[in-house]
Amino acid sequence: MRLDKPGILAFIIALILAIVVLGAFSALQASYHFEGAPSYLPWLLGLALFVLAYFMIRLGVEQFVYSKVKIIYKNIHELKIGSETEEEELARSTDLDKVTKEVSEWATQNRNEIAELRERENFRREFIGNISHELKTPIFNIQGYLLTLLDGAIDDQEINRRYLKRANKSVDRMINIIEDLEVIAALESDRVQINYESFDLTELVEGVFELLEDKAHKKHVQFKIKKDLDRPLKVMADRAKIEQVLINLVGNAIKYGNEKGQVEVRFFDMDKHILTEVSDDGIGIPPEDVPRIFERFYRVDKSRSRDAGGTGLGLSIVKHIIEAHKQTINVRSSENKGSTFSFTLKKS
Ligand SMILES: Nc1ncnc2c1ncn2[C@@H]1O[C@H](COP(=O)(O)OP(=O)(O)O)[C@@H](O)[C@H]1O
Ligand SMILES: [Mg+2]
Repeated sequence: MRLDKPGILAFIIALILAIVVLGAFSALQASYHFEGAPSYLPWLLGLALFVLAYFMIRLGVEQFVYSKVKIIYKNIHELKIGSETEEEELARSTDLDKVTKEVSEWATQNRNEIAELRERENFRREFIGNISHELKTPIFNIQGYLLTLLDGAIDDQEINRRYLKRANKSVDRMINIIEDLEVIAALESDRVQINYESFDLTELVEGVFELLEDKAHKKHVQFKIKKDLDRPLKVMADRAKIEQVLINLVGNAIKYGNEKGQVEVRFFDMDKHILTEVSDDGIGIPPEDVPRIFERFYRVDKSRSRDAGGTGLGLSIVKHIIEAHKQTINVRSSENKGSTFSFTLKKS
């Protein structure tokens, strides 16, 4: 006899029933004086009745409880695994411990999922807020220039040209933001593909230096490459995406570097990886801002970044790309001395 909860309930009811019947039997025997009945008969009857009642009540209670448990189990199991429960599985589902375990596992999983969704939702809300804020600035600027022109400035050739040029600059800014957002959206979607190929990093950096030559020239910044070995540095990575990383890092190094300063790219051969460093001798990053600079739209000095055509998205794109290669990016910086960004890539 199992004395779990239904067992105890059945035990108590069967015991009461047996006592009542036994009592009634004794009373009957006392008034009718049965002859010849053995003296242990009432006890035997009582015991038989108790055992019979115990098992019947227990079976009834179990059937009732387990019919409910089965429904709960079926629903939770199906929610958890996302498909129908098999008959065989259902037949084994009457183990209360198993059902309890399954329910608590399911609740934990749900709690975690909800927390993650909430976090993502907050992130999304903040992101949309940032985008509209960033786009509002150039749009209001353009509107300002147009209204001034409509107010009469249009008749002055000189002002006319100047304001149209400024409006055009604001349009460029909006295009930059939208292009960076498109890159981020593509990188964050599940369809981001890293097309691995073998290429020479030195060559890629030289190409990026050529692309950014004008920008560097305007600030009289000098480019330098330093490597410990005089042979091609072949890596296995997505060439176009790593080019984007270098454009963003070298672009920042020029933007936040000194006038007449130096931007240096260094390579280090590390057994299975190549470590690339991009450094400048510019304004540096305050220590409290360092942990946040890879966040979307985070900028230490908003107006400085905007004036230089920044969107605050460059480093978050860089981080995405490096992480999609399962590699890491780091930064070390000291204020008014300069910053160094470094990332690894697998050798080929
Ligand atoms: N080389 C650097 N030197 C100093 N500060 C930097 C450097 N690179 C990035 N930062 C800081 O990190 C912020 C984020 O960089 P990024 O995502 O590229 O945006 P931005 O469009 O402003 O360049 C910049 O606004 C700047 O404050
Ligand atoms: Mg940038």
